[in-house]
Parts: sequence; C-alpha cells; structure tokens
Amino acid sequence: MRSDHILAIDQGTTSTRAILFDSAARPVATAQREFQQHYPQLGWVEHDPEDIWRDTLAVAREVIAVSGFEQSRIAAFGLTNQRETVVVWDRETGEPIHRAIVWQDRRTADLCARLKADGAEPMVQGKTGLLLDPYFSATKIAWILDNVAGARARAERGELAAGTIDSFLLWRLTAGTAHATDVTNAGRTLLFDIHEQRWDEELCRLFRVPMGLLPQVHDNSCMFGLTSPGLFDPQIPIAGVAGDQQAALVGQACFRPGMVKSTYGTGCFMLLNTGAEAVRSENRLLTTPAYRLNGQMTYALEGSIFVAGAAVKWLRDGLGVIAHASETDGLATRVPDSHGVYMVPAFVGLGAPYWEPNVRAAITGLTLDATGAHIARAALEATAYQTRDLISAMVADGSAPPAAIRVDGGMTANNWLCQFLASILEVPVERPANLETTALGAAFHAGLATGVWSGLDELSRTWSAADTFQPTMDADLRATLLAGWQHAVARTLS
Ligand code: G3P
Repeated sequence: MRSDHILAIDQGTTSTRAILFDSAARPVATAQREFQQHYPQLGWVEHDPEDIWRDTLAVAREVIAVSGFEQSRIAAFGLTNQRETVVVWDRETGEPIHRAIVWQDRRTADLCARLKADGAEPMVQGKTGLLLDPYFSATKIAWILDNVAGARARAERGELAAGTIDSFLLWRLTAGTAHATDVTNAGRTLLFDIHEQRWDEELCRLFRVPMGLLPQVHDNSCMFGLTSPGLFDPQIPIAGVAGDQQAALVGQACFRPGMVKSTYGTGCFMLLNTGAEAVRSENRLLTTPAYRLNGQMTYALEGSIFVAGAAVKWLRDGLGVIAHASETDGLATRVPDSHGVYMVPAFVGLGAPYWEPNVRAAITGLTLDATGAHIARAALEATAYQTRDLISAMVADGSAPPAAIRVDGGMTANNWLCQFLASILEVPVERPANLETTALGAAFHAGLATGVWSGLDELSRTWSAADTFQPTMDADLRATLLAGWQHAVARTLS
C-alpha cells in the first residue's frame, strides 16, 4: 500500500485538531479537542503547554484509529499552529518553565509603548515587517525570563530553549532532537529579519532575548525530524510546518501575487500574496513571510483582526443570547438590520489598522427596543466592516482591489455572513467546499516534501469554489453602514 496520506495537526487558540488527508486533498478522518484558557489577570491569556502536548498526541492517535488505516499509509505529518504564542522550556527535561503566553495577551503593552516612544518602531518595522505591539512573541519571551526566578541566568547559560507552539511540539515529537521552526512562525517573533532571513542581533538586544534560546529556521516544506520511537510505530516524518494563517493561504491555493484569503477563526486574518516582494506597509499592515519553498521566499501583506469568532463565543458564554454558535445565522436574519447598533469588538484591544492594545470593546447605538438579535447581528457585521478596513489599507498600500476573496474558518459556514461580506467589500467572496484550509495548507507543505504532490500547480488544481457570493447591496446603504461603523470606532478610540 502506498504512503500517500498526510496527517495534519492544527494547534489553534481554542482547540487542537488532527485531519487525515488523502492524495486528492480530501479529508478522510478528523479528531478535535478543546482545551482550557487561563486568564490569570485582566488582559492576560495563557495556555498550559502540557494540555497542548497531551491533546496533540491524543488527536493524532485518534485520527489514525478512526480512519482504520495502516499507519504505514501516512507519508508525513504537517504541523500548523496558533502563531506568536510562546513557550520557554528546559533543554534537559523538556519541561516548560511557565505557561505559554498567548498571542492575545496584553501584559507587555507598556513595554511596547515605551519602545515606541523611544523611536524603535521604524527599525523594527524595517527588519521584521511588524509593529510594536504586545501581540508578537519577543516581549512575551522577555517577560518570562524576567518573571520566573533564575530564568534569565539559566537562559544565558544555555539551559533553556524558546519557541512558538510549533517549536515546542517539534521538540516533544522528536524527543528534543529538533529545535526548529519555519520562516512563517519565525517571522512573527519580532526577532527575525524577514529580508536577511535570519535571527537578528540588534533585535535580540532590543528585546533582551538571548539568541541561543531560539530555534533553527527552515523552509516550510522539508524534513523537520522523525517522531521519536515509542510515539508512533512506524516513526513518522514531520515534513511541513507553517503558522496557521500562512498555512490557510497555501490551503486556499493563493499562489499568485494579488490573491487574497481571509480566515474567520478566533480572530480574522487577511493575507495578500505579494510574491517575491516584501511590501512595506504605510498603513499599519504587516509584512510577513507567506511561505519559503526550496529557499525561495514568497511574502504577504497581512491585516490582523483579533476578534471575529471570539465575539460569537462571547455572545454565547458571556452574554448568553445564544446557546450554540450556529444560532447566530438565524438570529442575525430574524431582524432586517442592526437597528443602528454597532459592536466594536476590541475585547483584547484593536489590531490592524488601529493597533490600540488598551482600548476595550463597545456596543453603541443601543435603544430600549434593541434586542439580542440586533447585538448578534452587530457582532457579525463588525467582522465585515473590519475586513473592509483591511482591504482599504491594502489598496492604500498600492495593491489593486482584489478580484475575489477566498474565505474559510468556522464562521464562513454562515451564508448570511458571506453575502454581507461580499456586499460590504464590493468584492466576490469565494468559499471552497473544504473549510479546513489551515490544516490542508500544512498537509500541502508536508506532501510537497514527501512527493505526495509534485508542486504548486498540482495543488492549485485541487482547489475549487463551492459557493461564490456576489456583492448585491445598494451603494447608498453601504455608505451609510460604513459611516456608522467609522463613527462607532472613533467613539471607542476616543
Ligand atoms: O496570530 C494568531 C493566529 O495565528 C490565531 O489563529 O485560528 O487560532 O484564530 P486562530
């Protein structure tokens, strides 16, 4: 039997998934586990790396068991992960010295503000394509070194290792033989020069992160290591690694400059392929590695919105207006409009293009006859307005308006939202049959390295739109809605 299946692991912000793909890029088995979020203080978000490791192993084994396949049919693992979240661990024991600090965590906002006031941002943006915001990894690593007793001295002595979630999982999967990452994850740390494609001494000094802590940086598609004996039998090569948003770009087959995907998961992340050119944004977008294959870097321009699906989760768990996330579809269409209600979902500050870590969410325009349905509708509408802000910033940075946007992520199962998006963006929205494009992108990387697929052309041929939503809204109505959104944002920022 040929080894022509790829097992992709998608370690996300709230759950860990394993999906087995066949050589036609079809998912044949899935397993998923949600894990606990820790909020030790206002604005802090942590994960227990042991939960993440336990679930990763469990879903990988479960998916193999559910598929009923011989393990030898699996050519490789592909790994994709929530980006920026960091772990620092002991090189000897592999044990984390602190819980993972999650990308949503705002504890280093003051440090970022100080560095910005000192004038560091132009240099940082020039080298990394990123901005000074607590979202990224470097200040989180420094926080752990400064707040765990003895950690900084141990780091200087070379006793510790650090990395994003992919690095930590690679270390565990290979029993410490691989301390590695890929360009897309490295490119989110604030420590990696995306042009020189190496860790940068000046940045490591600025953020006080010893370089010896950092993993080796590889192409996305290559042999990262073999699972250690005892975990899987036979051992499985790990042949693809990518940050989840860049993996989704690949899973959506956005391989030509100008192609755009937007993923609606916990947050919303829109990436525009800019080819070999690293476009420097003048409009507070991020320049980020999209993928590096055979040493050739492709870049993307990224707009990062921190809250999309998380607002629906809040409607369910915080406000209690729905019992299940899928109810928002019906609730939003029960009312003809949001009745002047806007939600600015700055639950963890605002990302692109505002980058205001300290603002908090707001609901504006409430009247006595407003209902939960209006608030639910406002939450969904906000994802479309924010996406529109990102496209406007991309166009202001010199990109042509996209011909279409490929969408994915759990929220895009909602037809009403996809239609509203198309109308607000004034761009056709294409939705593929397989919404698990993040896992698929990791599988593509691993399959390219192991010969399951021959190249990007073959991958492109596996993609097709199951549904296309065309803009239909009257121009005056769109202008009125957008003006209301801008007004709500301005009030929240003031
Ligand atoms: O940058 C954060 C991002 O990678 C998180 O993705 O899918 O967990 O919302 P997700």
